[in-house]
Amino acid sequence: MAGILGFGGYAPAQVMTNDDWAQLVDTTDEWITTRTGIKRRHIAASDETTLDLAAVAAERALEDAGLSPSDIDEIIVATDTPEVYTPDTASFLQDRLGTPEVPAYDLGGSGCAGFVQAIDVARARIHLHPKRVLVVGVELITRLVSWKDRATAVLFGDAAGAVVMGPDDGKAKVLDVVSGTDGSKTEILTLLVGGTRYPFGPTVAETEEHQHLIMHGQEVFKEAVRRMTQAVRDVLERVGRTAADVALVIPHQANKRIIDAVRRRLEVDEDRVYVNIEEYGNTGSASVPLALWEAKEEGKIAEGDLVVLTAFGAGFHWAAAALQF
Ligand code: ACO
Repeated sequence: MAGILGFGGYAPAQVMTNDDWAQLVDTTDEWITTRTGIKRRHIAASDETTLDLAAVAAERALEDAGLSPSDIDEIIVATDTPEVYTPDTASFLQDRLGTPEVPAYDLGGSGCAGFVQAIDVARARIHLHPKRVLVVGVELITRLVSWKDRATAVLFGDAAGAVVMGPDDGKAKVLDVVSGTDGSKTEILTLLVGGTRYPFGPTVAETEEHQHLIMHGQEVFKEAVRRMTQAVRDVLERVGRTAADVALVIPHQANKRIIDAVRRRLEVDEDRVYVNIEEYGNTGSASVPLALWEAKEEGKIAEGDLVVLTAFGAGFHWAAAALQF
C-alpha cells in the first residue's frame, strides 16, 4: 500500500500575460485565449533555476506532511528541463534539501507525463521497501525553448509541484496507476538537439536549432485527447469504479480545448474537472502536481473523494492515477 502524505507546489512570482507576448511576437490575446484557454504564465526570474523551483515545492510538500528532509528515503524528479545536463536534478535537490544520502534520480524526457509515471515508480519502490519517497515534477521550459516561435513559446510556463509518498494511506491512498508509451511518433513532439544524434555545435548555435521545439499541434492534440481519456477509463476499470464515481479529474494542463474534449468523452461535468491553465499555461511535468496542490489548497478535494490524475506528453507517454482521499 502507498499513499500521499503531503502536497506542495510553486510558481515563480513573475507573470507574463498574452498581451505581453503580443509585444514580442505576432500574436494576440484573442488567438491564444480561444485556441488554448491560456491567459497568463509564470516565468522564472533570471537568477532562478530548475532546482530553486523544485526545492520550494518539495519543502512545501514536506511541511504539509509534517516531515523534515531527514525523513526522506528516496527522491525522484520528473523533468525535461534539468538543472544541468549531468548530473541529474535529483542530486542537486538531495544536497539542497539536506536529506540523508538516499537514492535519488531523475525521470527525464517523458514530457508532461513524467510526474504521474514517477508516482507509479515510487509506489513500486514503496511496495518493495516501506519508505518515504519525495516525488517532484518541475519544469523551467521558458528558458530552453525559443522566444521567437509564436507557435510554441506562448503555450508554456515555469513551475514545480511535489508530493511525499509513504507506506500508508496518508491523505490519499494511491489505488492504482496505469501508463503506456507509443514510441513510433517521436518526431511529432521533440527537441532534437543536444543528444548523440544531433550534438550541440557551432552550426546549431547559429541557427538556434537547440531551442526549436518541434510540435505538430493538431496531431498532438488528437493523441492527447485519446490517450488521456483512455488512461482514465483504464485506471478506473482497474479499481472497479466508473467516471460517475469520480469527484475530481485533474488532467495535464496543455490546452483547455484538450481538457474539454477529454471531459466530454468521459461524460464528466465541468465542475468535476480541475482547470488552472488560464493562470500557468503548460508547465510540463509540473502541471499535474501543481494542479493537485492548488485543488487541495482551494478546498476542492474533500475526504472520501476519488480523484483521478491523467497526463500525456512527448514520447508519446501517457499515465493516469486513481487516488482515494
Ligand atoms: N498567434 C497567432 N497565430 C498563431 C500562433 C500564435 N501564437 N501560433 C500559430 N499561429 C498560426 C499558425 O501559424 C497557423 O497559421 P496558418 O494557418 O497561416 O499556417 C494558424 O495559427 C493555425 O495554426 P494551427 O496549428 O492550425 O492551430 P490550432 O488550432 O491547431 O492550435 C495549438 C494550435 C494551440 C498548438 C493546438 O494545436 C494544440 O494545443 N495542440 C496540442 C499541442 C500541445 O498542447 N502541446 C503542448 C506540449 S505537449 C503536451 O503538453 C501534451
